[in-house]
Amino acid sequence: MSRPDASSIHWAVLAHPGLSAPLQQEGGLVTDLAGIAGDPSGNELPGSVVVIDDRLPGAHALLEAYALRRPDVGMLLIGDDLPAQAVRALFRFAASDVLACSATAEMVQTACQTLAAKARKETAPASGATCWALRGAVGGAGVTTLAIETAFAMKQRQPTWQVCLIDLNLTDGMSAAFLDGQKKLDVAGLCAAPERIDSTLLRAYAWEHEKGIFLLAGPRAPLAEEVATRDGILQLLDVACGMFDHVVVDLPRHRTPWTDPILSVVDEVLVVSELTVPSLHAAGDLCREVDALRTGVAPAKLVLNRMFAKRSHRHSFPVDKAERAIHRKIDFTIRSDWDSARMAANLGMPIAQVKARSPLVKDIASLVETLVEGTSDTQERGAA
Ligand SMILES: Nc1ncnc2c1ncn2[C@@H]1O[C@H](COP(=O)(O)OP(=O)(O)O)[C@@H](O)[C@H]1O
Ligand SMILES: [Mg+2]
Repeated sequence: MSRPDASSIHWAVLAHPGLSAPLQQEGGLVTDLAGIAGDPSGNELPGSVVVIDDRLPGAHALLEAYALRRPDVGMLLIGDDLPAQAVRALFRFAASDVLACSATAEMVQTACQTLAAKARKETAPASGATCWALRGAVGGAGVTTLAIETAFAMKQRQPTWQVCLIDLNLTDGMSAAFLDGQKKLDVAGLCAAPERIDSTLLRAYAWEHEKGIFLLAGPRAPLAEEVATRDGILQLLDVACGMFDHVVVDLPRHRTPWTDPILSVVDEVLVVSELTVPSLHAAGDLCREVDALRTGVAPAKLVLNRMFAKRSHRHSFPVDKAERAIHRKIDFTIRSDWDSARMAANLGMPIAQVKARSPLVKDIASLVETLVEGTSDTQERGAA
């Protein structure tokens, strides 16, 4: 088990200063939970490794809140003679541990390091597949379009790669419609017995495009998110990562029980924004929220979609100024190509197939190349 970089761990602590002080020295962000212990229901629950001292006021409510809303964290509970309810809550976390009240600060420190490594391992995909998730800062930013084109660009880059696109917009996913594909994913059946999900079952749920891309997408189902479970969706992703070389996930904008665990472990998170001030600010905020979930993995990348297609226009958009305003680097820009996007959607084909020379397709190819090569810092914006 690899020891995570301590400086990238976000510790959240409800404990006496004597026990939490060594975590401060480890580096990384340390958040004191005393302020929200009184009312955890009304607050975001921070951290990737959480330490709660059972003896302090609000400890039980805080533990329950984390078990319900942030089961992806590593949870360390300090206490003697714990009530059954607290022990049950502990079972819900990706990784958890208990120390007696007599534990020393060094014991807390060691347990926290182990939890940080375990939490990542427990929620991480099982194999060496790369998994990228795309999420929009605002509705209609272009997530589905970019997810589809990314999957096709991967296949184009290396035809031997097995590439799968998973549409997790369970209620109203559009990727199958964009590709004129079959919606074969049965979310209710899958989540009813997550332990039965294996490669054979997923193969039956997947539709294969003639270019060799696999699509896991269900029919329009307004109640799908009510029957879907965190375990089922994470198992689906886990098995898919064991079957394919590259998995691209089209995530909905709203939060679901499986959103945070996915965002915390995938290799790359691409936050897609359109070219408006409100969208850029939302994208900056969303990137920071995602970063708080990601320890020891790449921070979220911001993708600015539908940039002006003409070079002269593009240069008139002050990307640097936008970056300063939102305190965030814009990692990639994708140029606008309405005609090709509309034609592709109407034909039920990827844009790469309808117009391979589209600037949008070129920019996506450049994004894929950059991320696959792991050189995102060097990509030239809006590369022609
Ligand atoms: N770079 C682009 N240039 C032109 N049109 C685009 C581009 N990206 C997306 N679109 C179009 O914008 C609309 C919304 O895109 P979509 O992928 O459905 O967004 P989302 O999944 O975020 O709701 C679609 O009509 C799509 O064809
Ligand atoms: Mg969409």
